[in-house]
Amino acid sequence: VRIETVWKTFHPDLDRVEAEIRHHLHSDAAIIPEVGAYLLEGGGKRVRPLLSLLAARLCGFERESLYTLAAIVEYLHTASLLHDDVVDMAQLRRGHAAANSIWGNQVCVSVGDYFYAMALHLAVAEDSLEIMEILSAATAYMVKGELLQMAHTKDVQTNRAQYEGIITCKTANLMAAACALPAVAAGVAEPLKEGLRAFGRHLGIAFQMVDDTLDYVADEERLGKLVGKDLMEGKVTLPLILLLQEATAADRARVGEIILKDNLEPHDLQEVILLLGRYEILDACLAVSGDHVRQAKEALAPFPESEARAACFALADYVVERDL
Ligand code: IPE
Ligand code: IPE
Ligand code: MG
Ligand code: MG
Repeated sequence: VRIETVWKTFHPDLDRVEAEIRHHLHSDAAIIPEVGAYLLEGGGKRVRPLLSLLAARLCGFERESLYTLAAIVEYLHTASLLHDDVVDMAQLRRGHAAANSIWGNQVCVSVGDYFYAMALHLAVAEDSLEIMEILSAATAYMVKGELLQMAHTKDVQTNRAQYEGIITCKTANLMAAACALPAVAAGVAEPLKEGLRAFGRHLGIAFQMVDDTLDYVADEERLGKLVGKDLMEGKVTLPLILLLQEATAADRARVGEIILKDNLEPHDLQEVILLLGRYEILDACLAVSGDHVRQAKEALAPFPESEARAACFALADYVVERDL
């Protein structure tokens, strides 16, 4: 199964998620639909809602509430992006000016708060303590992930375990939740639920590793974000961690110097990109993320072979093959 086929197959369902997202955007506080529509209608791959739809298909879950759950997950993601772009002082998001550069930090933090709270509020209607537990924990983890990341800004000692801890919190737990929710709502057996959750977690870890790799090598136009921003933001992510580990003492010192610099110049980024190439770090990053894709697929072993499972595998492969 090819990922294009998966997107096409789930297009009608994703449209229903879109309708649900749009529905909850209405508010008489005009700034909420204004900022919300700008972000939500400005693109976004909708990977997390697709995860929920795939998980639902695997569990045979077809109730109407699926679309609400998928919309909730996208709202939590949107809230985290609003906050993330304030924290990162980002300029571009989804190929357009980042919301914070248009409306300012106060508005974006508050609209982000609103989306977080509104998403959890919507979940109450599902009348399931387990669903509330999953969503509220994922929300807390996302914020914790951002805080851990801040604590490691420009920290050249950041190791793989710390990095994986951060990305599990900020990205993987929400994807795990996106997969687990339909399983919970469908009431499937524990091993199936656990399998889906692990699938989402490993997929999320791989997804963030690829995001961190693309940050150095992507086509800016396609990615819709500025290349090299992680270095500028002092984020010590997988490419830098592996580079610092592989480089000679002299190169390591040079990379360390660049990370600590206050005002990066274009040639600093070029130098890091050159070294990433010389030490074949991008291949190494793809190998590490590929290993998580493998583990993600393994986690679905409790499910019998099916079209839905093949679609999950295609999405897992897409995560490491994507260029945006
Ligand atoms: C961006 O997520 C933030 C990360 C977790 C890397 P996506 O790459 O899913 O962003 P959109 O929703 O498609 O814009
Ligand atoms: C992911 O981190 C952000 C969230 C999970 C909120 P990044 O800072 O790498 O995301 P981008 O690259 O800005 O999309
Ligand atoms: Mg960011
Ligand atoms: Mg990034």
